[in-house]
Amino acid sequence: MKRRIAVFGTGYLGATHAACMAELGHEVLGVDVDESKLAKLSAGEVPFYEPGLDDVLKRNIDAGRLRFTSSYEEAASFADVHFIGVGTPQKKGEFGADLTYVDSVIEALGPLLTEPSVIFGKSTVPVGTAARLSQRLREIAPVGESVELAWNPEFLREGFAVQDTLHPDRLVLGLEKPGGRAEEVAREVYADLLEEQIPLIITDLATAELVKTSANAFLATKISFINAISEVCEAAGADVSVLADAIGHDVRIGRHFLNAGIGFGGGCLPKDIRAFMARAGELGADQALTFLREVDSINMRRRTHMVELAREAVGGSLLGARVAVLGAAFKPNSDDVRDSPALNVAGQIQLQGAEVTVFDPKAMFNSRRIFPTLSYASNVEDCCQGADVVLVLTEWKEFRAIDPGTLSPLVKEKIVLDGRNCLDPAVWRNAGWDYRGMGRRTE
Ligand code: UGA
Repeated sequence: MKRRIAVFGTGYLGATHAACMAELGHEVLGVDVDESKLAKLSAGEVPFYEPGLDDVLKRNIDAGRLRFTSSYEEAASFADVHFIGVGTPQKKGEFGADLTYVDSVIEALGPLLTEPSVIFGKSTVPVGTAARLSQRLREIAPVGESVELAWNPEFLREGFAVQDTLHPDRLVLGLEKPGGRAEEVAREVYADLLEEQIPLIITDLATAELVKTSANAFLATKISFINAISEVCEAAGADVSVLADAIGHDVRIGRHFLNAGIGFGGGCLPKDIRAFMARAGELGADQALTFLREVDSINMRRRTHMVELAREAVGGSLLGARVAVLGAAFKPNSDDVRDSPALNVAGQIQLQGAEVTVFDPKAMFNSRRIFPTLSYASNVEDCCQGADVVLVLTEWKEFRAIDPGTLSPLVKEKIVLDGRNCLDPAVWRNAGWDYRGMGRRTE
């Protein structure tokens, strides 16, 4: 059965979820407080870069299945299935998650619920949040017990958001009590996915919340593990890329998320591991997650290490050096620069007195907004003009494909630092460049 669905929050998660639910044939209303975002989305324009999402958005707006509004009243009277997809950023000056946006959806929506409804939380929240919200809904919703809250965490990756939403590797559903309306509604909403034999894991609220944070903590740990090994490789003159390939053949380890480099960033992994530590502390289980402090510091050390490599490359002082930075997004196929290792490195190098020019295929607008003092070039060649050193900090396909021969006449010094171990050292060295990766042998 097709349902009428409201999705609260139209960021990376909410906008993708709204468009994809419409793609599954449901009637969907996307709700946000940001009128400029709503205007763009209503016009069929995705306010951020996400491959394939604009097609899904336009197709479903044209088909009349997808609309956007800022009115909670409209959402409450239109839908009886509600998804919460608002952000849970890190609190200022603290590790914990800021739940203001999630709370305000509940506070605004709850009093408008006059018909039996189901609310699915998708945002990443500290364990215990869903139970608290459920209690609060009972107090403020006119339908009282006839509103059910379930937790349905999202595992989508930016850059693959549509694929990950329509064909996830699993669905997780945390319920207050088994066999209620929430499960029935979830099975209807996700009927097409279940037909594809995508596993549905049904559990309690706390486990569902913890599945999400544990998944991100594991991914962060895997990246920091290989980055720690990369430090040892550098000290021992070994090659971390070959090592990762070799250990990755063991299916118990797996090759994914073993790419050493300047580490993880973005709007999820860094803040999620910190919120996880903070919550464990509140629960009296802080010792259990102290290793995540180390995961965090290994990760932050990678950025400083890249700054050191750049300083060494230009002869010991960055003062007055010209540094070309290729890549600003926190990863390729995204224009997201939240906690981006690339921009962070660019900023640190500039603070040490270098003249830094940045180019990124998609993240220029967002980078300029948060780092207006860096110089920006409109293509790879302009970026590298007169450079004393070239840094590749996001592994965009177009950077992997650079023919070093075309850059040779433009730069002052043929030195490249590969912050993502994404270039072929032999190709660059054969073209006369001094190539340096992270945790890879220097020659
Ligand atoms: C991450 C998770 O992968 C998703 O499953 C999750 O749903 C999402 O967070 C979320 O919580 O919303 P995302 O932030 O889009 O997704 O990015 P990832 O693909 O996980 O990459 C994170 C960072 O790790 C990037 O900066 C990337 O460059 C870095 N990374 C990744 C490495 O340094 N090495 C690797 O081997 C892999």
